[in-house]
Amino acid sequence: MLWKTVLLLALVDQVLVLENGLLQKPPMGWLSWERFRCNIDCDQDPKNCISERLFIEMADRLAQDGWRDLGYVYLNIDDCWIGGRDAKGYLVPNRKRFPNGIAFLADYAHSLGLKLGIYEDIGNFTCMGYPGTTLDRVVQDAQTFAEWKVDMLKLDGCFSTPEERAKGYPMMAAALNATGRPIAFSCSWPAYEGGLPPKVNYSLLSEICNLWRNYGDIQDSWRSVLSILDWFVDHQDVLQPVAGPGHWNDPDMLLIGNFGLSFEQAQAQMALWTVLAAPLFMSTDLRTISAQNMDILQNSLMIKINQDPLGIQGYRILKLKSHIEVYLRPLVNDAYALVFFSRRTDMPYRFHSSLAQLNFTSSRLYEAQDVYTGGVISGLQAETVFTVIINPSGVVMWYLYPVRM
Ligand SMILES: *[C@@H]1O[C@H](CO)[C@@H](O)[C@H](O)[C@H]1NC(C)=O
Ligand SMILES: *[C@@H]1O[C@H](CO)[C@@H](O)[C@H](O)[C@H]1NC(C)=O
Ligand SMILES: *[C@@H]1O[C@H](CO)[C@@H](O)[C@H](O)[C@H]1NC(C)=O
Repeated sequence: MLWKTVLLLALVDQVLVLENGLLQKPPMGWLSWERFRCNIDCDQDPKNCISERLFIEMADRLAQDGWRDLGYVYLNIDDCWIGGRDAKGYLVPNRKRFPNGIAFLADYAHSLGLKLGIYEDIGNFTCMGYPGTTLDRVVQDAQTFAEWKVDMLKLDGCFSTPEERAKGYPMMAAALNATGRPIAFSCSWPAYEGGLPPKVNYSLLSEICNLWRNYGDIQDSWRSVLSILDWFVDHQDVLQPVAGPGHWNDPDMLLIGNFGLSFEQAQAQMALWTVLAAPLFMSTDLRTISAQNMDILQNSLMIKINQDPLGIQGYRILKLKSHIEVYLRPLVNDAYALVFFSRRTDMPYRFHSSLAQLNFTSSRLYEAQDVYTGGVISGLQAETVFTVIINPSGVVMWYLYPVRM
């Protein structure tokens, strides 16, 4: 069966990958960019500007509101933290907005059982125009991040040439390794090369990066979610095999808790990202998030599926004229995640199917747990006809497992 082959490839692949031992499961945490962007106006907007205060308040929420204990441990700074370089060329944060420095924030995160991520760019400038890590600064900046006890680096690619990126990303991987500090490495490189071979060499990326952004930035809209999903699905034959423990495709942040998605769409993004084995980086205001959105993000069965130890990325297996699609992700212990996704815009759709129609050939007896409602569907054999009711731009997600006799 196809999935056996994929599994074997995934296992063979593991001997060739980045050896920092990090991110054996997709990273989970919080990243400032999508929600807070480059808001540096701390005079007018002190609660929401990119500043020490914002990261401390998010760290407190991660630790106190159940996030950390579910696995959301990364507290990641994005662009607009840099103040400049000192006389010796060392990076310094903006003094007004980060008065105690980055090492202080790292200590604070660590004291709460969290990890701190930081952001730089391999070009002349970051995307928002702050000093970049040009090739002559790679080793120095890696040392700075290690000294500050940073745990993850997102290295962007604005204001760089393809040649600089081809040199800079491997150089940074080596420089991070040479610091002796385990620092997870998030590379925006493929997104700057169109995301596909031959321009992108995914074998090489697996050797130097723990995760990588393949495609454009997510924006706060359903249209943006769909454009990313469509691109990932259109190229799933290329992208699916290159993900695995320690090296993940990154379709970008979760929008859940912000302004652009309906409740159904928020559930859909969470389910689809989980089945894609995507990093789960929230980017929302954890101080004001609603209980309903928290429920989506804190669904423990969802998280268990996202963090499945096999680390196999899921796949769209069915695309129907009715605008219903089915996604499948193989999990440990012969279990699967199934996502029934509706692109319809009319009304809840009654989708009739059977495991046989989803290419399950075994004669085993299965049970499914609905990941959102908790309901259990039992007595599923290959030919058993079942019905799921899928809301417009919504999902039904199943955790499907064989019943042990
Ligand atoms: C550096 O790379 C070597 C293998 O190439 C690995 O054994 C070691 O753990 C790495 N160290 C860090 C800090 O990533
Ligand atoms: C980076 O800066 C150098 C020196 O000013 C300049 O020659 C080069 O064209 C710049 N590169 C990019 C991609 O903007
Ligand atoms: C891709 O990178 C791998 C690992 O560095 C290398 O062995 C291989 O030759 C590269 N492939 C191409 C087409 O450049």
